[in-house]
Amino acid sequence: MNSPCTYVIFGATGNLSRLKLMPALYHLHAEERLPRGSKIIALGRRPMTQEEWQAELHDMVSAKARGGLNKKLFQDFCNRMHYFQGDLNQDEIYEQIRHAVDEREDFPSNAAFYMALQPAQFGTVIEKLAAVGAFEETHGWRRIVIEKPFGYDQESAHMLQTRIHKFMREEQVYRIDHYLGKGTVQNILVFRFANVMMEPLWNRNYIDHVQITHSETLGVGGRGAYYDGSGALRDMIQSHLMQLLTLVAMEPPAAMDAESLRDEKVKVLKSIRPIPQSAVHAHAFRAQYGAGMIDGKQVPGYLEEEGIPPHSTTETYAALKLYIDNWRWRGVPFFLRTGKRMAKSQSAISIRLKQPPQHLFRDTPVEQMKPDWVLLGIQPSECLRIEMQVKEPGPTMHTRTISLDASLRDDEKENSYDAYEDLLMDVIRGDQSQFLRFDEVSGAWQVVDPILRVWSMERDYIPTYPAGTWGPQATRRLFEKEDQFWRHSLLPNDEDE
Ligand code: BG6
Repeated sequence: MNSPCTYVIFGATGNLSRLKLMPALYHLHAEERLPRGSKIIALGRRPMTQEEWQAELHDMVSAKARGGLNKKLFQDFCNRMHYFQGDLNQDEIYEQIRHAVDEREDFPSNAAFYMALQPAQFGTVIEKLAAVGAFEETHGWRRIVIEKPFGYDQESAHMLQTRIHKFMREEQVYRIDHYLGKGTVQNILVFRFANVMMEPLWNRNYIDHVQITHSETLGVGGRGAYYDGSGALRDMIQSHLMQLLTLVAMEPPAAMDAESLRDEKVKVLKSIRPIPQSAVHAHAFRAQYGAGMIDGKQVPGYLEEEGIPPHSTTETYAALKLYIDNWRWRGVPFFLRTGKRMAKSQSAISIRLKQPPQHLFRDTPVEQMKPDWVLLGIQPSECLRIEMQVKEPGPTMHTRTISLDASLRDDEKENSYDAYEDLLMDVIRGDQSQFLRFDEVSGAWQVVDPILRVWSMERDYIPTYPAGTWGPQATRRLFEKEDQFWRHSLLPNDEDE
C-alpha cells in the first residue's frame, strides 16, 4: 500500500480539472485505489463555500461517473476534498498550502502539486511554491505534475526547465502526457516485445510506412484563447503523436524501468532527420477548418469560434512526414496527422507492410494485390487488427482482404476508463516511466521547431477544409508513392484516400 498524500490541484475549476482530473480522482476514490487518508486540495480563484464547491464538483463528476454517481461514495469523496480560494499572483495562497501539507494534521505531508493551468503560469507558480519552502521534503515527498505544452518551442522549454531545476530534482518532476496512460498505447510495447511474431518484421525491410492519426469531430470549443496561441502542431503533434512515434520506433529497452525506457525513446528522437526550413513544405502541411456539417448539424468555422481573432492563421489540422535515420528505419516515412472538426473522432496507428518481392499471381485474374496492414486502434475502441490477403472461395484466383481481429476494449460500448486514473496513481507511487523526461520534451521540440518557425512567418494565408471532412486533398503531396494514401478507418476499403 502506498502512503497517503495530498493532491493539490491548481486550476481546479478549469476545463482539464472538470473534464478529466476530478472524474479521475473520484474513480480512484470509488475503486479504493487512493491510499487511505489521502486528501485533495482544489485550488480556484473564485470565492466559494465548501458546499458551493461540492455542488460544482457534483456536476463535474456526475457527467462522467462510470455506472452513475454513487451518492454515498460521492459524499465520502467530498470529505477528502477541500476548496482553497486564492489568487495565484499573491503570496498568501502558497503559504496556506505549505502550512496545510507541512503542519496541519488533517493533511498528509506527501504532496503532489498538479499544474492544471495555462502554460504561461507554470514557472511563476513553481517559483512561488519554492519561495515558501513547499518543495522541501522534510516531512514527506514533494512532486509536481506539469501538463503539456512544456514550453512554446525548444528555447522556451529550456528556459522553463532552468527555472524548475533551481528548486527541484528531475525525480520530483512529472511531465504528463495523458496518451501514455491509454490502453493501446501501453500495449504497443507489449505487442512488440512480448511476442516474437512481429518484431522480425518491424523494420525497413518489411514496413512501407507508418501513419499515426488523431482526428476529432470537436472544434476548439471554449479553449479558443489557449488554442489560437498553440495550434495543432504544438497541441497534439509535439506531444502526443511524437510519443506514439517513439513507442512504435524504439529499440527494446534494457529493462522496463523509467530510465531505460526513456533512454530508448530519446534515441529515436535524436535519430529523426532534421527538417531544414527550405524543406518544410515538402514535409509538413497545415490547414484550418471552415464552417461545415458535423453529425448532420451545421457548425461554425474556426474564425467564428469564441476568442479567435478574425484573421487568425492558426492551424487546426497538421500533417507531417518524418524519417528516422537509424539502422532499423532508414527510408521508412512516418506520417503524423491530427485535426479538429474532422469527419470522425479516432486515434490509431496504421502500419503498412511492403508488397511481397514477387507477384506470383500476376498472370492469374487477380486484381492488384493489396498490401498488408497492422492496425492499432487507440480510441474510441482499443483494438489490434492485422489485414492479410486470402483467396476467395471459388474456382478463380481472386484475393480478398481479411482481418485478424482482437478487440481489447470497446469504449463506445463500455463506460470509458480514463488514462488520467493510472497516471495520477503513478505519481503517488513515484513511477515516472509513463512521464516525459526533459530530454524527450526537448527532442520533440527540436523536430517541430523549424516547421513552427516557417509557419509563423507565413501569416497571410492558410488553406481551409470544411468541418466534417478529412482535411484538404492537397495533404497527399506528403506521400512518396502513388499507392500511398491516408488510412481513415480501421476497416478494410472504407473511405480511405
Ligand atoms: C489534449 C489537447 O492534450 O488532448 C486537446 O490539448 C485534445 O486539444 C486532447 O482534444 C485529445 O485527448 P483525448 O484523450 O480526448 O484524445
